[in-house]
Amino acid sequence: MGRYTLAVLPGDGIGPEVVAEAVKVLAAVGKKFGHTFDLRYAPFGGAAIDSSGSPFPPETEDTCMNADAVLFGAVGGPKWDTLDPVIRPEKGLLALRKAAGAFANLRPAKLFPELADACYLRPDIVAKGIDIMVVRELIGDVYFGEPSGIEVRDGERVGFSNMIYGEYEIRRVARVAFETAMKRNKKLCSVDKANVLAVSRLWREVVTEVSREYPEVELSYMYVDNAAMQLVRNPAAFDVIVTGNLFGDILSDEAAAITGSIGMLPSASVGGPDMPGLYEPVHGSAPDIAGQDLANPVATILSAAMLLRYSLSLPAEADAVEAAVAAVLAEGYRTGDIYRDGMRKVGCSEMGQLIADRV
Ligand code: NAD
Ligand code: IPM
Ligand code: MN
Repeated sequence: MGRYTLAVLPGDGIGPEVVAEAVKVLAAVGKKFGHTFDLRYAPFGGAAIDSSGSPFPPETEDTCMNADAVLFGAVGGPKWDTLDPVIRPEKGLLALRKAAGAFANLRPAKLFPELADACYLRPDIVAKGIDIMVVRELIGDVYFGEPSGIEVRDGERVGFSNMIYGEYEIRRVARVAFETAMKRNKKLCSVDKANVLAVSRLWREVVTEVSREYPEVELSYMYVDNAAMQLVRNPAAFDVIVTGNLFGDILSDEAAAITGSIGMLPSASVGGPDMPGLYEPVHGSAPDIAGQDLANPVATILSAAMLLRYSLSLPAEADAVEAAVAAVLAEGYRTGDIYRDGMRKVGCSEMGQLIADRV
């Protein structure tokens, strides 16, 4: 029986809707297992810009840094798209990841057998199963590389972002990927663009060096364009993928789509041992469906399960949440994004309640 402090950042768009459902599920876990979750809500993203002028105010940073873990919804939306890029909601998210030192972003893409009918791939490909862990580097690459900007040169505007990685940054995320592979099927695919980019050649060299510490792991390399293709052609061939920030952003949305819906996929971002882990769905604020009780809360609920597993070391509690999700899907309940004829269509809050009830 434990007492845990969680920073909760609902954010924008569907963020508050899906986070509310994850909180319901955490309350059910607390009741069943006798834990107390002390929830500290804090403004973040566009909502924080509106209330204080900054997407990641210092008080929110304090709340996060003093918590055992951070549960986060999504940020951004058309309302803030025209702001100065320095204070856009997405900048707040990047600042949070950086502040938490969260260099490794774990994005599992797993097909629930109950959702095979929601999958976009051919049935014979789906039948082989999909269970991939994308390990995405999260606080380097073009996202943070300097120089970066737009300026006038020879009378025309040029825009530039620097894809840059130091070997230390590559080595630490590679280690997380090899450790992850050791706990799974011991296959790791490093994805880069080493046929063109110097930064990718260093990436490959350092991953190869780290591989000597993990002789049991079968390491392969793939160019990112081919990886994008193989993910839809033969997803069963992948176990763990390790890649940089930008390639990982793109491939993890693709991995989400092949398992049925981006509304299903959770993520965990971890860094230094004394830093709080960050838990958020892979999807964004979905302005097109916000405020209509249409969002699928499962990605955020499964992110809460990852929080229980990784930051609080509560595997039985995490298993209970994952089993509750599988049970509700097996009973035929579906939000709109995964709905098929003959299923039981529910909204965001009903889906969350059903899952909480089954914990
Ligand atoms: P998005 O992920 O918000 O939406 C893409 C599509 O997926 C939309 O059609 C949306 O309705 C659908 N979708 C997303 N989540 C869903 C859910 N839980 N249930 C059902 N359907 C869902 O991506 P976008 O439209 O490119 O971006 C919208 C805003 O979100 C932008 O401002 C972007 O910067 C931001 N964004 C934030 C994050 C984050 O906070 N981590 C991630 C991605 C995008
Ligand atoms: C994600 C998002 C973010 C990213 C944006 C909103 C900064 O797309 O979490 O995948 O690119 O990392
Ligand atoms: Mn993304």
